[in-house]
Amino acid sequence: MNRLLKAAAITATAILASGSAWAADCPVTVLDPFDLEAGDINSIYDCMKDDLAAGYASQGSKVAENYRNWTATATRMAVAGPHGSRLLLTFANPIGAETYLKFEEEGVNMPAGSVLAKESIKIHKKKKKAVAGPLFLMTKVAAGELPDTNDWRYDALTPSGKVMKIKQSFCHDCHLGFEDQDYLGYPVEEVRVSN
Ligand code: HEC
Repeated sequence: MNRLLKAAAITATAILASGSAWAADCPVTVLDPFDLEAGDINSIYDCMKDDLAAGYASQGSKVAENYRNWTATATRMAVAGPHGSRLLLTFANPIGAETYLKFEEEGVNMPAGSVLAKESIKIHKKKKKAVAGPLFLMTKVAAGELPDTNDWRYDALTPSGKVMKIKQSFCHDCHLGFEDQDYLGYPVEEVRVSN
């Protein structure tokens, strides 16, 4: 391979590896995610949202193809802290939406078949850009099917739609803190959509 071709091949590999083939990385001026105002967050989302959904759906995941038609559980993305201080926005499928949107703090029991899909965007401080993060998923299975995780299955897709290898216990150990809410963390209060 001559040197030019080699350079081109390396660049192509780098683009694919970084996922930037999908998410149009959007420049940001505020670098601490906790300092972002609602307006900043909405501009970032406007810049990223089309490529975000297209990237998640690009490997044929049915959930990734559908979740944007589900119910958004918040008025906009927000930063909760966990999940790597990323901007987060959760969608609930038709089976789960009604119960989820009550945001009850006790005795919550999500119906089997509920799916929560949570988009994420990270503020990359060095690059001064917003970059796509994983699509995080929780699926409620039939009672008794997954006793180790209280019948929740955790999944995640990369920004380019690939299934991530995750440890169920990694996710559930933290979600265990929300036991009375059927292990759901809910969006931060100021952005919750009321039922
Ligand atoms: C360190 C704690 C922590 C870990 C680890 C964690 N989560 Fe979460 N998760 C939260 C919190 C807090 C929320 C609610 C905040 C928000 O979504 O704005 C949440 C929300 C979610 C939601 C939206 C439904 C809900 O709970 O309201 C999904 C889906 C989700 N997480 C999936 C995952 C997956 C998949 C993993 C593992 C790869 C994981 N989580 C690991 C803390 C954690």
